[in-house]
Amino acid sequence: MLYLPAEFPQDNELCYLNHAAVSPWPKCAAEAVQRFAFENMTCGAEKYPQWMQISQELRDRLRCLLNATSVDDIALVKNTSEGLSFVAQGLPWKHGDQVIGIADDFPSNRVVWESLESQGVEFVQVDTNATDDPEAALIDQISEKTRLLAISTVHFATGVRLDLQRLSDACQSSGVLLCLDAIQSLGAIRLDVQATPADFVIADGHKWMLGPEGLAVFYVNPNIREKLKLTQFGWAMRQDPGDYSPGPWEPAHSAKRFEAGSPNMLGIHALHASLGLQQQIGSEEIEKMLRKNIDLLRTSLNSVEDLKLRTPSDSSRSAGILSMRVGGIESDVLWKRLMEKRVICASRGGFLRLSPHFYTRKQVLDRASEIIQQVIQDIR
Ligand SMILES: Cc1ncc(COP(=O)(O)O)c(C=O)c1O
Repeated sequence: MLYLPAEFPQDNELCYLNHAAVSPWPKCAAEAVQRFAFENMTCGAEKYPQWMQISQELRDRLRCLLNATSVDDIALVKNTSEGLSFVAQGLPWKHGDQVIGIADDFPSNRVVWESLESQGVEFVQVDTNATDDPEAALIDQISEKTRLLAISTVHFATGVRLDLQRLSDACQSSGVLLCLDAIQSLGAIRLDVQATPADFVIADGHKWMLGPEGLAVFYVNPNIREKLKLTQFGWAMRQDPGDYSPGPWEPAHSAKRFEAGSPNMLGIHALHASLGLQQQIGSEEIEKMLRKNIDLLRTSLNSVEDLKLRTPSDSSRSAGILSMRVGGIESDVLWKRLMEKRVICASRGGFLRLSPHFYTRKQVLDRASEIIQQVIQDIR
């Protein structure tokens, strides 16, 4: 029987509400890294075939998380920015093409599309904050010039979650590709690429998947995989990576074609363990537990004078982020004071951003809420 608090032995004084930034590892991930380090020290890569097995299992865990049909659709890449760049640099653009995205999205999900300007591709930026119907605002921009819709599933600053079904349907009916930066949702809420088709899904493991930085999943719809021009090259991306002889070669038929060289085996061991734990609990249960925690925080902060929650209360409109503004207090000022008191959180886009995860205990949420209220009073 899994005893959750044992898996998250965080400092007693710490209120960790920053999973939307970088998450603490569960004990199983820390132990996997320790074991891997010891094995490297004592036996080197003697058991490399077993490491490859772990890497294959990780692909399958990621496949399950996305409900993709095959591990062949999953590449392990460096980070979200790299995956987005594979898409931006790999699609065959024509002068005059348009990409639709979100005006104040996370920088990675803007700069890659802006980088296409020299190829005559326009990045159409939609202010999704200016409307109660962000999906309509995005869909309204679709025209015969639109090739791709590039969005974050959950906004990194406001915590607003988009209706993927609506966006996916609109893309499908207009022949527009859909690219999801899912780093703020994967591991927190469910995503099903069969029910809600997307062409590309990218997410680094260090937020809601509770893994280390520097290892991301890159899902590519098999129908488009071979149309994406390859932009990085190396031995590992070949159909037969074990053939070291010179001569002709072909890229892997699977998404491994996007993995140029040696894998991040250390990160693979850690993320494998973290996702193993999450799989034991189940995505539906994780989503429910996280929802409960967000609701608890929301309720406990509701009475704070002049506090405006930016993240909608509707569960279909949010995931693990709760963002707020407190009248008369700069979010940076509040954030600094909270960090001094070891309430680990963030200030993003003028909002104070709290992001618990499913395992965060009520005790921690209550203490964080008390400290937040106290700090607000002190500043006032
Ligand atoms: C929406 C979004 N995309 C991307 C990233 C980070 O990208 P990378 O994995 O390249 O570091 C973040 C990090 O905060 C984010 O919130």
